[in-house]
Amino acid sequence: MDSETKTPEGQPRAEQDRVVIFDTTLRDGEQCPGATMTFDEKLEVAELLDEMGVDVIEAGFPIASQGDFESVQEIARRSQNSVICGLARAQPKDIDTCAEAIKPAKRGRIHTFIGTSPLHRKYQMGIDEAEVLERVTASVTRARGHTDDVEWSAMDATRTEEDFLCRCVEAAIKAGATTVNIPDTVGYATHDEFGALIRMLLERVPGADQIVFSTHCHNDLGLAVANSLSGVMAGARQVECAVNGLGERAGNAALEEIVMAIRTRADAMNVWTGIDTTMLTRASKLVSRVTAFPVQYNKAIVGRNAFAHESGIHQDGILKHAGTFEIMTPESVGLKESSLVMGKHSGRHAFREKLKELGYELGGNAFEDAFVRFKALADAKKHVYDEDIEALVDQEIASAHDRIKVVALTVIAGTGGPQKATITLDVDGNQQTFEAVGDGPVDATFQAIRSLVPHEARLALYQVSAVTEGTDAQAEVMVRLEADGKIATGRGSDTDTMVASARAYVSALNKLMARDARRKPETMLAS
Ligand code: KIV
Ligand code: ZN
Repeated sequence: MDSETKTPEGQPRAEQDRVVIFDTTLRDGEQCPGATMTFDEKLEVAELLDEMGVDVIEAGFPIASQGDFESVQEIARRSQNSVICGLARAQPKDIDTCAEAIKPAKRGRIHTFIGTSPLHRKYQMGIDEAEVLERVTASVTRARGHTDDVEWSAMDATRTEEDFLCRCVEAAIKAGATTVNIPDTVGYATHDEFGALIRMLLERVPGADQIVFSTHCHNDLGLAVANSLSGVMAGARQVECAVNGLGERAGNAALEEIVMAIRTRADAMNVWTGIDTTMLTRASKLVSRVTAFPVQYNKAIVGRNAFAHESGIHQDGILKHAGTFEIMTPESVGLKESSLVMGKHSGRHAFREKLKELGYELGGNAFEDAFVRFKALADAKKHVYDEDIEALVDQEIASAHDRIKVVALTVIAGTGGPQKATITLDVDGNQQTFEAVGDGPVDATFQAIRSLVPHEARLALYQVSAVTEGTDAQAEVMVRLEADGKIATGRGSDTDTMVASARAYVSALNKLMARDARRKPETMLAS
């Protein structure tokens, strides 16, 4: 038992003060435009959440697609500790499909929801209050027929009339809901309003003391974490959140912020979670890698600057006593001082140790490929930082199953023009080369890829940043492609910005292809 599960006096914290951490990175998070994850990526994220101590993993929305169904089912099969939850609308087919998907789990949950606010009743569903109440009872009853663990959500709860919300919650509890979730679906509530809403429900609804109230706050006004914690202070004992705050629009409450606020201010909140906080940095990096969503530098807890001290006064204070300007230690969120400096003389053993230190485990071929790339990088660059190795290995892992790979690239750039790119791609084991002229070197490179793998995807984003400092730093490029309303984001890194760009474009293309593996590369995306 670590300090988080004890009171300042060293007494164990009570079970009733435990806040259930419900992670929705794979459901609400994945719904966010551009954050689509492949099957393997979802399994990787779920495995880490399970290991980290997340109580409930919302693994997906099984009725939404065959892919979602299969990933929820596989996560249910593999999870060791977490409850595996699937989302379902208040419809029999949704609920039955969800039940089927979570069946292999040691402990499974069905999460069913319906809109309760006047706007949702009138415009989204065209039904009246009585019909909503009937559907609440019918959906929860049906879900309880499959499992004892049923969560019911009142979508747009914060814009629902209080009396009607009370009647809905009462109906859900009577029908057997064990958790009742109160979403601030559009991120509209203020923190005092949200806390008061939870308190009101606990006071007024018969049976409210028998179930767990949950928060699900969106971040449209930047209040998601504050509102969730206000709900906890008012008596909610489950928080729905997502790694890096991923989610619809401005996202959900960030898991790492909720967990560290509860831990750091246990004196003020008197609650605790079962999360291993030293895994938060790894979780953030993994989710950032698989979604290709960068973490903003000054993001709380997991941003690059979250523990950096630049000003002289701060540095002086930190050297004298870390507590002067740090309210939590970098180690508590899994940030480690680098113990091994890497360079071109580092061998396999040192590289393997470094990977272990950074939390990676690579098997045979993947390790060898990463080592070859590390050696090439160490030749090109004087200092190889941890961030360089992370970028390199992340790319190696992300591209392991890719059907298209960048083999070689030569680019002619400069003021003279025309700018040209000659690229060799390996497509399903066949190498092909093409030369294209473009409006600049990036355009020429992307034109050449388009000629070798014809597709209709539109380039929605092209972004370059540096992995570390200095002119020999690796470039990290992000490319977002859009086809048929689907979005895929790819990331590529290299000391050569053009090579990084080609890798990022090809990575996004591979992700789009993965969504329909049966189609051949030449015919994909053409519908
Ligand atoms: O934001 C929301 O209301 C939701 C529900 C499905 C819980 O995501
Ligand atoms: Zn949501």
